[in-house]
Amino acid sequence: MDRLLVTGGRRLEGAVRINGAKNSALKLMAAALLAEGHTLIENVPRIMDCSTMGEVLEHLGAGVGWDGTTLMIDTTGRLGIETPYELVRKMRASIVVLGPLLARFGRARVAMPGGCNIGSRKIDLHLKGFERMGARFTYEHGYLEAIAPVLQGAMISLDFPSVGATENILMAAVGARGRTIIENAAREPEIQDLANVLVEMGAKIEGAGTTTIEIEGTDAFEPVRHRVIPDRIAAGTFAIAACMTGGEVLLEDARPDHLELVMDKLQEAGATVEVEDGGIRVGLAGRPLAVDFVTLPYPGFPTDLQPQMMALLSVARGTSIATENVFESRFMFVDELKRMGADIRTEGHHAVIRGAEWLSSAPVRALDIRAGAAMIIAALGADGTTEISDIHHVDRGYQDLDSRLAALGAELRREPAVPIPA
Ligand code: EPZ
Repeated sequence: MDRLLVTGGRRLEGAVRINGAKNSALKLMAAALLAEGHTLIENVPRIMDCSTMGEVLEHLGAGVGWDGTTLMIDTTGRLGIETPYELVRKMRASIVVLGPLLARFGRARVAMPGGCNIGSRKIDLHLKGFERMGARFTYEHGYLEAIAPVLQGAMISLDFPSVGATENILMAAVGARGRTIIENAAREPEIQDLANVLVEMGAKIEGAGTTTIEIEGTDAFEPVRHRVIPDRIAAGTFAIAACMTGGEVLLEDARPDHLELVMDKLQEAGATVEVEDGGIRVGLAGRPLAVDFVTLPYPGFPTDLQPQMMALLSVARGTSIATENVFESRFMFVDELKRMGADIRTEGHHAVIRGAEWLSSAPVRALDIRAGAAMIIAALGADGTTEISDIHHVDRGYQDLDSRLAALGAELRREPAVPIPA
């Protein structure tokens, strides 16, 4: 397990091209299972999670080939229906193959995902939706077996606008008999990207991007060629990193319409934000100002930028309050930030962040993808060299983060972990 050594105090400056969205690419890869033939997905980030989803598809019998960031998925051979625990435990998003497998084969066998560092992350809403469509489940030896000889369109009202449940149900519904209506659907841009690709493949979908999605089932899907939308969370992470260092970066290809609230909050913190042809320029001179923010499903402030924003606000002038409404355990990284001198008190889903004048380097851990990004941001603004261990979590979600930060002027290097003496 590598660790990352980041020396703080370097101003980030220049341009960075924003890669394709992880949380869209993973679902588009699963959607390829619906059609027989060769699907081409462009702008897929070269990150561990996409490789894991590639392994899931290969395990199911699909051919998977990369050419740079273009991914070719060949589903012409005989496909299986099982996703094993080794892959689901590496990446929970593997369960998103349930919907397309049910739609195409009426059966799926998927290992149940286990624990997670950011919350209990149940899949009850996915399963309730499939049940409404006529699927039946059995659980044995850690596996969930789903059978739906006839998948029937249904009225499904989600208790919470879950991203994964909306996507999984959507991918089942496009292949079901008749009409499905998903109420209280998630509205994330990644869901719109998925709906767009499904429509290109032959599905009939209306309302994606709103709280009500209507789907008319069909069984004729064609493989397509599609380009993944830019990663709004990667864009937000680079923007916050630039602000942490008093720098200025151009986020090439970032979509301003996907980042409205994030950019508003950065402006409240004192940043300048300019939308230019082909990107967004973000910079901040001096210390940030304190800002309160609340995470919510899109178009609210994304939970996937909460840790990074907390890292920035830990050096703000004044006291900020962050409220996390999406995942119950997404403040676990706060103890790591405190090791660097951050003054943060959490109570339930609120965090009170008293801005410190500076952070000091310390050995810290990356607890998950975004918590790891937050530690890097804190380290960029801290004095001295911070050692971040378990950096593999960051590699799951960020493409070439070290080299792209280095190209912007950051001082950082990777080293193999030092073995702990017996
Ligand atoms: C997606 O996870 C993203 N992952 C997450 O990104 C992101 O944080 C999250 O959406 C919220 O935006 C991918 O797209 C691969 P949810 P997902 O279902 O789909 C509860 C990252 O760092 N819930 O919207 O799993 C759940 O426990 C990652 O890139 C149920 O109770 O999120 C959570 O509290 C991490 N029952 C809330 O809903 C269910 O059946 C939101 O979860 C489903 C969810």
